Amino acid sequence: MATNWPENVGIRAIEVLFPSQYVDQTELEQFDGASAGKYTIGLGQAKMGFCSDREDVNSLCLTVVSRLLERHHIKHTEIGRLEVGTETIVDKSKSVKSVLMQLFADSGNTDIEGIDTTNACYGGTAALFNAINWIESSSWDGRYALAVCADIAVYAKGAARPTGGAGAVAMLVGPNAPLVFERGLRATHMEHAYDFYKPDLSSEYPTVDGKLSIQCYLSALDTCYRLYRQKFEKQQAKTQSGKVGLDNFDAILFHTPFCKLVQKSVGRLSFNDFLLTSEGKRAEQFAGLERFNNATLEGTYFDRDVEKAFLTQSADVFEAKTKKTLLLANQVGNMYTPSVYSGLVSLLIGVPAADLVGKRIGVFSYGSGLAASMYSISVTQDAAAFEKFVAQLDYVLPLLNSREKVAPEQFSELMEVREKNNHAAPYTPTGSVGVLFPGTYYLKDVDSLHRRTYERTPTISNGVH
Ligand code: CAA
Repeated sequence: MATNWPENVGIRAIEVLFPSQYVDQTELEQFDGASAGKYTIGLGQAKMGFCSDREDVNSLCLTVVSRLLERHHIKHTEIGRLEVGTETIVDKSKSVKSVLMQLFADSGNTDIEGIDTTNACYGGTAALFNAINWIESSSWDGRYALAVCADIAVYAKGAARPTGGAGAVAMLVGPNAPLVFERGLRATHMEHAYDFYKPDLSSEYPTVDGKLSIQCYLSALDTCYRLYRQKFEKQQAKTQSGKVGLDNFDAILFHTPFCKLVQKSVGRLSFNDFLLTSEGKRAEQFAGLERFNNATLEGTYFDRDVEKAFLTQSADVFEAKTKKTLLLANQVGNMYTPSVYSGLVSLLIGVPAADLVGKRIGVFSYGSGLAASMYSISVTQDAAAFEKFVAQLDYVLPLLNSREKVAPEQFSELMEVREKNNHAAPYTPTGSVGVLFPGTYYLKDVDSLHRRTYERTPTISNGVH
């Protein structure tokens, strides 16, 4: 029977947004009285982007969606589904998606499915899966889907504050894409945990059990990887490709709360490969690591010997397949839902396009509470189309380098303004509009009925920022 299942469904365009201001992590260490190197070496973070009270999750989404449509000359009528993933909640009922519908009003297009999805940093992946699933379903009407993720990641003063950040990513999803989601290669692990959550609805800050959050992240990674490998091996048995484990990926992206955890995660995957290799073959593939033959996943989340040995074992893999994906995470910080997709952008701008053509990218997405998935993307074999796709990201580095550095004292004051006025109404923000990038939507005011109004900084002449 003939089928109309669309082919090569995936990401056709991607847009990233980060704040125009940042605080330097070396300066923040001094200001916080932390030991020199704790944030920069211990956590692996160089700069942290942040938003004043002029930006909220709605404004971030308005900006990133407008920019994507403008840059790629997509008509508003060409969008049939729009999904938002976020954990930055400004309203318990009204979705961010409904706010974004303002952008579509002039076009008359109100026929757009999709709504918001929330589970910590995983909401963006859920939004993306929903978008992909729609295109591949009987509900698809032939138009594009948009998956949008945005968050403002802020922590109360203390150990977690340097792991903040902010940003947004929008992805245009459709068939015949340069980045294709591999069918049947998605593995998910979800369970109940109180590792990081936001029970105080009046505050932007989470309640965090830092150590437990790391254990939850690593154990979800273990489970997703094992399941992904099983699915992969089953599928590949039919095609006889023969590659298993980390060799299977040409690049590997992770949700990045801080860069050091990602480096450790590559080591963790190598430890998984070790445990999944028969003892007979370990001597050949993992020479010198036989002393860990009896180690278990459950017993080693904070085992320094295992961590160190497999960090060393996987150092070349990290260097070749993951390091370049950490550029935006290192320079902006944790964006929450967009974090792993900022890793995708970092990879696309950090590696020559020709080196990625036809390659497989592994993706691990994690959201506390907890929800996690591992899946893979294959890059098109069409080198010319891929080069064109990547060239659309030429704006990222100049924009990143044009940000304004702010002293930790001023950053701390701006955090206090956000903290004091969170959910205040009526409210007129005091943060500077002048510092925002061209074409940025910002909060003009909140009226006494909590209704938010937005304006936009002037766009530059060609409409692309
Ligand atoms: N020079 C170099 N390194 C130093 C140092 C110095 N002067 N001082 C400390 N370090 C190292 C430490 O040895 C440690 O590294 P190792 O773990 O490799 O030993 C690292 O710096 C951090 O130090 P601590 O463990 O003492 O840090 P902490 O306990 O004060 O805080 C944290 C770290 C728990 C991650 C905290 O920042 C936090 O709670 N962050 C928020 C939660 C989070 O990001 N969790 C990640 C998983 S959950 C998730 O992924 C979802 C999400 O997005 C939130």
